[in-house]
This record gives sequence, structure tokens and C-alpha cells, in this order.
Amino acid sequence: MVSRVIPVDPFDLVIFGGTGDLARRKILPGLFRRYCAGQMPKDARVVGAARAEMDDADYRSMVGEAIVEFSVRSDVDQGKLTAFLENLSYVAIDARGENGWSELAQHMRRKVVRAFYFSVAPGLFGDLAERLNNHGLTDDDSRIVVEKPFGRDLSSARQLNQDLAAFFDEGQIYRIDHYLGKETVQNLMAVRFGNMLFEPLWNSQFVDHIQITVAETVGVGGRGEYYDKSGAMRDMVQNHLMQLLCLIAMEPPARFDPDAVRDEKLKVIRALEPVEPHHIVRGQYDADPTDPENLPNYRTAVENPTSKTESFIALKTHIANWRWAGTPFYLRTGKRLVARSSEISIVFKDTPHSIFGEEAGRHRNVLSIRLQPNEGIKLGVTIKEPGPGGMRLIDVPLDMTFADALGPDGAENVDAYERLIMDVIRGNQTLFMRGDEVEAAWAWTDPIIEGWTNRGDVPKPYDSHSAGPDAAAQLMRRDDRDWREVTP
Ligand code: BG6
Repeated sequence: MVSRVIPVDPFDLVIFGGTGDLARRKILPGLFRRYCAGQMPKDARVVGAARAEMDDADYRSMVGEAIVEFSVRSDVDQGKLTAFLENLSYVAIDARGENGWSELAQHMRRKVVRAFYFSVAPGLFGDLAERLNNHGLTDDDSRIVVEKPFGRDLSSARQLNQDLAAFFDEGQIYRIDHYLGKETVQNLMAVRFGNMLFEPLWNSQFVDHIQITVAETVGVGGRGEYYDKSGAMRDMVQNHLMQLLCLIAMEPPARFDPDAVRDEKLKVIRALEPVEPHHIVRGQYDADPTDPENLPNYRTAVENPTSKTESFIALKTHIANWRWAGTPFYLRTGKRLVARSSEISIVFKDTPHSIFGEEAGRHRNVLSIRLQPNEGIKLGVTIKEPGPGGMRLIDVPLDMTFADALGPDGAENVDAYERLIMDVIRGNQTLFMRGDEVEAAWAWTDPIIEGWTNRGDVPKPYDSHSAGPDAAAQLMRRDDRDWREVTP
């Protein structure tokens, strides 16, 4: 399958935090891949901006090393890399002072798209926006890209929105949630709204429940300081899992355009019922005594022996609207679990009457949408077990693993960041969060977090490399349901 790559318009992209972890791991390798794919025009310019003093040559060599280290493909084409690096320059800048801003202004060209990526702590968003404006670096068509965490509660998110709105229109602000850039997440919309098959069944009359699992094997790594102040609720649920839930649950938008899609997502968030304390399980990982690597437990990793922050969450919620009344949504995410696996499962109801009798057992259709790894969609269908001996039923998957169905080239693995940066340059906000969505998501999570603080809630320990605390399994079993197994 030949992929159709349409080059974007020429652009100047400034990456504040251009020497940081995200820039080195994701943004710059992603740009390089778009360059190799022919999507980044030859005359696009990238300016790294950060505190450290260095010249263009130092920056290029730092970025070159990062691209080799973090590229998904092992074979980096040196010729292309050298050509790509030619488009890069560097400016040492003081986000809270005046140093570097005039120099940055000299780098900006007229008549190209200007985009400014704030790959820095949110505490600097307002300062950067103000200085960009004061130094005349932006025009009406300029865009800014901001990373999560977008605040740590409703009031800080409102403040951030106000700080940015002082200098930019909402149509210029691109709030990244990289889950929206994942291939299968977009496929979710294609499957729902591009087929006649599913949408008529997509409601509480036919769907028993929906589960969303984002399981990671990694621990908090070197991000302990940030993570211990956030926990899984702020780090994953408030953004990634809620965005997935919105795409599953939203009404069909009239068009696939930014505001039509985001209006529908917002309605879902606003219709979410508050979560009852007994419908939520928090966990914190212990070490695994059998682990040959002897990886530390959560509290050691974050250097806080009394930490009450959760590295795991499982919860049940409902959406109070006509489509979903009575259908529970179960969300689960955690670090240091048994496998890396992100999956959304739509579990359909039992048939209203079994003509095969009790002994045929319970068989339910499950539509599983696999985000990573092994992206694909499977539909579990009940059939007769082959062979003689009567009518015994078994479930078999109709399997659309994309790499199998489309071949290795068809299932081109475009990283979420690559796609999203190109969308910024194209001026397409569909896969970015609008300010009101982010605020609504915090308005739902804030009372949950406040409840834990007020009650002095302590997360339940779970073994590393397990499926999380037993209480998470019980949350489901109480409802006569089970989590789908976390498999790689
Ligand atoms: C980030 C979180 O937003 O998403 C991390 O801050 C998490 O804690 C990561 O590990 C997961 O992303 P992915 O793409 O690896 O599933």
C-alpha cells in the first residue's frame, strides 16, 4: 500500500524547552521522520530555545544524537539526518527575563506559519505567551502548542487558560493530549462513524458495559518528583482515559471538524456522574521479590517513604444521558503492571433468550479496540464448536490486527507526536483539547481527589508485574463482571 503524504506549508517552529526530554525523545525525532517521509518541506525551520548557552553546531549535534538514540527505526539515514539538521538553529533564551528574545525575533521569517511549542513546565506558559507578544513575534495566524499537565485542578487550569487567552485566541492554542494522535484512537472514530454495523448497537440497550485499560510496565522512572505530586488520576485519567471515554461515548458529530467533535466530547464530560468513593480503587506498586532487576517500589522510586500518591486507579462511572443511562464505564490504568497493553472493550449484552439452553453458557460479543501494542480491532463472535457431539458454543475473534490486515507498509506506524505537530502546521485542531474541555475534565476529577485528601485515603499496595490490587478485580466482580486480561 502506498502512503499518500501531502507536504505541509513552510513553517518556523520554535521549541521552548528544545533541549528537554520531550523534545529529544519525541518532538525532534518525530519531525525527522516527517522530513524523511517528505511531509516536512525543505525550507521549514526549527529553532530550539532553552536556557543553556550553546551554538547552532552544538544544538545540531545534540539533536542528531537524540534522533539516533530515540528513533523507532534502527537505520537512521545519515545523509537525510545531516540535511534535516541544517534546518535547525538554537537561541539561548530566558523565559522570565529579556535575554534572547530579540535574537529569536531575527530567526522568524515572514509569510510562513509560525508555531511555538511550549515544552516547558506550565508555570512558564504565561511568561512565554507574554514575551512572544511583547516582542512582536506572533501574528494572528501564529499557533502555540502546550503540553500536559494543563494545570493540576480546575482553578489552576482556569488560570492557565486565562494567561494564554490574554494573548492568543482559542483557535491559536493547541493543547496536546498525545493519546488523540494515536492511530487506533482515530480509527475508533472511523469504525464508529464509517460503518453502519456498530452505531445502531452503540447504546445502553445493547451494550452491557465498557472497559478502558491503559496498563504500563514502566514505573515512575526518573519522573518521581513530578509524578508524586500528580498520581495516576492527574497524570492519566484526567486526560488520556477521559479523552478515550469521550470518543467512545460521544454522539456522532455533524462533521469531522474541530468544534463539532469537541462540542460532542464536552457534552460527555459534562454528563459524567460523580464517582462514589466505593467505586474507585487506588493502588501503589510494591517491589516484585522475584524481579532479577530488583527494581524499587513506588515509595523508594519517588523518594517519599510516606507517599499516599496512587500509581494505579480503577473506577466505575456512568454517563447520565439517554444513550448511556445504565451502562457502566470502567476505567483502569497503572504503572508497573504485568504487561503494556491499552485496550478499549465494548462488551455487548447477552442474547435475550438462549435457544441452546443453560448448558451453552454465557457468550457475549466483545469489540476490542487495541491501542498498543499490536494495534487492531477484534470482534468476538460466538459460533458452534466444530465437530460432532451436539451444539457446543465457543467464541472466536474476527481479527483485524492492522499489521496483518494491511501489511507492514499499510500499517505505517506514525507516532502520535508526528501527526499532531503536522496538524498544528496545517491548522487543524480536531485532535487537540479545547480549554472548556480541560476545565470540565478537572471539574469532574477535583472532587474525587479532594475526597481522598479529606479522608486521608491511602492507596492499596500491589505487586509489581501484577494486574493491580485485588480490590480492582472485586470492583468488577461485585457487578458480576470481570476485567479483560492484561496481555501484551
Ligand atoms: C504520559 C504520562 O502522558 O503518558 C506518562 O505522563 C505515561 O506517565 C505516558 O507513561 C504513556 O504514554 P504512552 O504513549 O507510552 O502510552
